[in-house]
Amino acid sequence: MSAAQARSAELEKLIQADPGRFRVLTGDRPTGRLHLGHYFGTLHNRVRLQGLGVEMYVIIPDYQVLTDRDVADNLTGHVEDLVLDYLATGVDPARSTIFTHSSVPALNQLLLPFLSLVSVAELSRNPTVKDEIAHSRQSFVSGLMFTYPAHQAADILFCKADLVPVGQDQLPHLELTRTIARRFNDRYGNGTPVFPQPDALLSSAPLILGTDGTKMSKSRGNAIALSADADETARLLKGAKTDSERHITYDPAGRPEVSSLLLLAALCLDRTPQQVAADIGSAGAAALKKTVTEAVNEYLAPIRARRAEYAQDRAYLRQILRDGNERARAVADTTLAEVRAAMNSHY
Ligand code: TRP
Repeated sequence: MSAAQARSAELEKLIQADPGRFRVLTGDRPTGRLHLGHYFGTLHNRVRLQGLGVEMYVIIPDYQVLTDRDVADNLTGHVEDLVLDYLATGVDPARSTIFTHSSVPALNQLLLPFLSLVSVAELSRNPTVKDEIAHSRQSFVSGLMFTYPAHQAADILFCKADLVPVGQDQLPHLELTRTIARRFNDRYGNGTPVFPQPDALLSSAPLILGTDGTKMSKSRGNAIALSADADETARLLKGAKTDSERHITYDPAGRPEVSSLLLLAALCLDRTPQQVAADIGSAGAAALKKTVTEAVNEYLAPIRARRAEYAQDRAYLRQILRDGNERARAVADTTLAEVRAAMNSHY
């Protein structure tokens, strides 16, 4: 177990003991509809935390989209799709604040003092940013690409979140957020820290692979969207990569594709992947795919029905964002006022 996983397990115990103590900030780039990888990776966990009574902020970081594409096409549509996916999966806007960070000026203003606290060398060696640059669809590497992890620190610290449920790839950004919080407190805190040092909360659910056996991602065309219909789901799963061994066994290291399908079925059926494998036995990959398809379609049916219902009411979606943005602005204004006081820039 890595240090980050051990810390997450420890935090999980603290959350169980006293959920009201924690403020969670989480979110997704508005680049398209969310898929099963998102669902079992983070969405499911968010809704669980919300149910426990943790205070939750869900950010839609719309400026971050500008880091990796030249044209932010259909941004409004992507933002609405995210809100729909959230509502359908159980994020409750009465209990959780859903907002777009471009609508919260005071949040963005935190970026300036934060950038003064990190070196160009630190920004340049961030492994996640390097990886994104390698896969970027932009004709040049923008300044925003280098600075977005500091922007993400503002996303997290504006509401003084102490927990951030994320995947492994976001750990460098969380580390930078902690560094910025610590340096701000050291330089300006006068003995009273302004910011907490937030922790990453890694999901304990293992990764679901895409239908080609690599990481599930919309841009790779291997993802099953939550909003896909039952036929599309069947078609995608029918084309999923498996192997030639007829007897189905759960062996994530030796048989990653078959095992990921078993895991997906198991998560939907609330069973273990080993049980699902034992039931299929020697019936082969076709039977496995049939089992997974039925399990996924049945599991997602109520989520899809809710999504379709909310999609009828654009005015309601806009209202949720307006309310969330208003709440986020009030919180950000308070924090910025504290930052100004600490920095002696209250004029
Ligand atoms: N960088 C995150 C991603 O690519 C999105 C994000 C932006 C985020 N701000 C955040 C995630 C704050 C958690 C907290 O998925």
